[in-house]
Amino acid sequence: MRSVILVGGLGTRMRPLTYETPKQMLPLVGVAMIERVLTRLHDYGVTDAVLALGYLPDQFIRAYPDDVIGGVRVTYAVEPSPLDTAGAIRFAACTASIDETFLVVNGDVVSNLDVSRLVAFHRERGALATLALHPVDDPSRYGVVPTDVDGRVLAFVEKPSRSDAPTNLINAGTYVMEPAVLDYIAPHGRVSVERTVFPALAEAGRLFALADVAYWIDAGTPRSYLRVNSDLLVGRVGEPLATRRTDSWVHPQSTVEAGVALERAVIDRDCYVGAGAILIDVVLLPGAVVEQGAVVRSSILGPGAVVGSYSTLGELCVVGANQHVAPGSVLAGDVRLGGV
Ligand code: GDD
Ligand code: MG
Repeated sequence: MRSVILVGGLGTRMRPLTYETPKQMLPLVGVAMIERVLTRLHDYGVTDAVLALGYLPDQFIRAYPDDVIGGVRVTYAVEPSPLDTAGAIRFAACTASIDETFLVVNGDVVSNLDVSRLVAFHRERGALATLALHPVDDPSRYGVVPTDVDGRVLAFVEKPSRSDAPTNLINAGTYVMEPAVLDYIAPHGRVSVERTVFPALAEAGRLFALADVAYWIDAGTPRSYLRVNSDLLVGRVGEPLATRRTDSWVHPQSTVEAGVALERAVIDRDCYVGAGAILIDVVLLPGAVVEQGAVVRSSILGPGAVVGSYSTLGELCVVGANQHVAPGSVLAGDVRLGGV
């Protein structure tokens, strides 16, 4: 089955990391997010994908010169200006001349969703479009989707307040669509699939949804990005990727000095960790340095970032590319270091 993968957003919630790198090119335990997503889809029989690109498109194209990602043959549809989710689907489907049932996936969704089951359900119901749903505790940062007992979508409410959410089943960013859905998308301008197209399809009674409790995460915020890295390490997504007893992964081209304590740490290539450092639930992107005695928890260090000796970083610090944290600093609580 052919597919459209949405990877053209600005990744604002992952700034400053996404100033240099598009969100789906950020690594998850050493492999780009897009590659992990497509590898999983390939397991479910997806053979061809159109990447719907807009922001920093060259990084995707350059990284995969043979146009194969995770076993899937890819082509590219580069938007002249951001078209939003539905505009991007239409542009990509038209660019690739898709004329049969196709799959659409948000490129920041890492999951074990059973795509074959979703396609079978879509055909059984004769739907124009079918969404995968996933239960979450707090639906307010997602599309919330009440259905009737047959799976017909009654409404589609994008990012309601927590108290207004009619159910805890949310749009898992994975859709099966008929080409006729494209007629619901006005050509040329920005159109949101969540705010315009799905509500219209629901109104017409042609939108269905199927819940799936398999592993699922939207890796698009610092917290969820750290979460998916640690889930990959310990084997919640597939085979555990940790190479150390401490549920950690260290790239062979990186140096970790003696006496370092690691717990669920991902240390990508060309990194250095000095003696006595403590790293818990952290991701170090290529070339990052943690000097001796520093303590870093629940934080992401961008490419070439340096955390000075005996610093303490905690609870969601995101240090941008090549930023330096002075020795002895104490940072905690959603700190973002680095601008454009
Ligand atoms: N090509 C292109 N053009 N892609 C875009 C554009 C655009 O203008 N805008 C966003 N995207 C891509 C993003 O790169 C991402 O892969 C995907 O579309 C979804 O955008 P996000 O910005 O990650 O949306 P979200 O996480 O807030 O919400 C969406 O995903 C949730 C599940 O993960 C919505 O679909 C929610 O309804 C859903 O619950
Ligand atoms: Mg997202």
